[in-house]
Amino acid sequence: MVPEDKRTDNVFFSCGACHTGRVYVKDRIRHLIGAPNTEIESSGYVGLLYGTAKKLIKVDSPDPGKIQVDFDQVSRIAAFLKNRIETDPAWFYGGKTPEERLASAEYAKVQVTRVLGNLEEAVKFLIGLAKTTELMYLAQASNLMHTDKEGQKAPSAFGPTPGRMDAFGTATGLVAVHARRDSYLARLPDDHPFFAGLENLPREERLKKAGERLFNTANEWISHLPGISDIKSLWYSRDHGLANWDANQAAEARVLASGVSSGGDPSKVNVRIHEAMNPFINDLPPSPYPFSVDLDLAAKGKPLFEQQCASACHYSQNKKVYNIGTDMNRAMQITPTARLGLLELIRETCELYVERGGSDWCRPKRGSRAADDEAYFVTPRGEASGYKPDVLHGIWAQAPYLHNGSVPTLWHLLRPAERPVKFIRGNIKYDEEKIGFVWDKAPALDEYSPGDAVHFAEHDTTVHGNSNVGHAYGSEWTDEQAWAVIEYMKTL
Ligand code: HEC
Repeated sequence: MVPEDKRTDNVFFSCGACHTGRVYVKDRIRHLIGAPNTEIESSGYVGLLYGTAKKLIKVDSPDPGKIQVDFDQVSRIAAFLKNRIETDPAWFYGGKTPEERLASAEYAKVQVTRVLGNLEEAVKFLIGLAKTTELMYLAQASNLMHTDKEGQKAPSAFGPTPGRMDAFGTATGLVAVHARRDSYLARLPDDHPFFAGLENLPREERLKKAGERLFNTANEWISHLPGISDIKSLWYSRDHGLANWDANQAAEARVLASGVSSGGDPSKVNVRIHEAMNPFINDLPPSPYPFSVDLDLAAKGKPLFEQQCASACHYSQNKKVYNIGTDMNRAMQITPTARLGLLELIRETCELYVERGGSDWCRPKRGSRAADDEAYFVTPRGEASGYKPDVLHGIWAQAPYLHNGSVPTLWHLLRPAERPVKFIRGNIKYDEEKIGFVWDKAPALDEYSPGDAVHFAEHDTTVHGNSNVGHAYGSEWTDEQAWAVIEYMKTL
């Protein structure tokens, strides 16, 4: 443990960073707890950290297998920090009022002095992070993600992709990160598939060989498909029988699994704080539509929606997955080996917590290891893969639509022929006519409020994994019927 007077702030994403949306209503920004964050650049953030760490590594090292720190670069950064903290300490944390700036300047002095006092640790930490990032992102993103459809560009690993990420691509990369850690494999039963063919080796050698094999074959078992998808809504999660776009987890495992894949290290996940999250999201109500609704028109749309949408697919606890012609990359992303590796990371996280005296809420308790495996990870389904249709609580705030956020508004969803090839994502102003965030115009940099972050990017449906085809339901309705159903969907 780092003594309290030496601790520095380390920031990373909390659940709410990705699972809180924003919308601009009458000159004010409203936060939508449980809605997808349509702006967050999580891959971009990781890319920045990665780029910073790369700058600290010598490029022309005589031994390419060995990392050599570029001390000139480190001293340049140290000199920069020293100069800033002496001349303008409020630069680090900002502040809207003079009082806030003063307080944040004092705070920055403490933090930056600690970092400068232990620069070696900070550099080591960053370089370690770069190595992990390389395995998680680059192995599968630039090297492996190729196009299997002629002419489609591969997406960039580090964005810009506001509100979207390759969540399970990077989670799968985590398995490669942990493959050579003996304590990870040591927990597996002797007959685990990771040990196949190595049964006769002495235990230590078996663990080592199995780890090396898993690591060295990552190229074969990591999906080569870029599966960048939107963040999911958590509103009234009690209606979601299974979790994630491809329904790859049971509801009982979903919050811990999210914590493990966002944090990345089983020994560092704060398991305790996840316990309360399942009941919290089960009962989390959607934010009501903040603009006007024509209730008479909505009443006309209701029966059509109920007959053709809600009772057909979007009903509570529908655990089936469907291939409805939408882009299949995300649904095909979890391979059998990735599944086994991920579920063991989640299991290890829970077991470590229980071994340290925590309650066993995180164990599925289905009566056998195999049954618990199902709770932790349900997919892959191979040819039978698809996407789960959730109940559409607060669907107005979940634009753009489909798992890959490729259709900007509800109108475009019901009118496939009009879906744009390219549009803007990340604007939090709202298109009250077509229902979705403004998609045909980028926000100006100072459009929301002074100093506010504005993240937007073009969504190009010709990029691999970004396609906007499929889910053509409603295209047979008349425009009048479509508008009525859209009006009704505002009220969900
Ligand atoms: C960096 C962004 C990010 C963070 C941080 C994050 N999530 Fe998510 N979450 C996602 C994305 C993206 C998905 C959809 C993944 C997919 O299926 O491809 C998702 C899906 C989920 C789901 C599945 C919802 C359903 O019913 O299908 C749950 C539950 C969830 N997250 C809870 C959490 C919790 C709890 C935390 C904090 C421990 C968390 N998330 C942190 C991005 C994030």
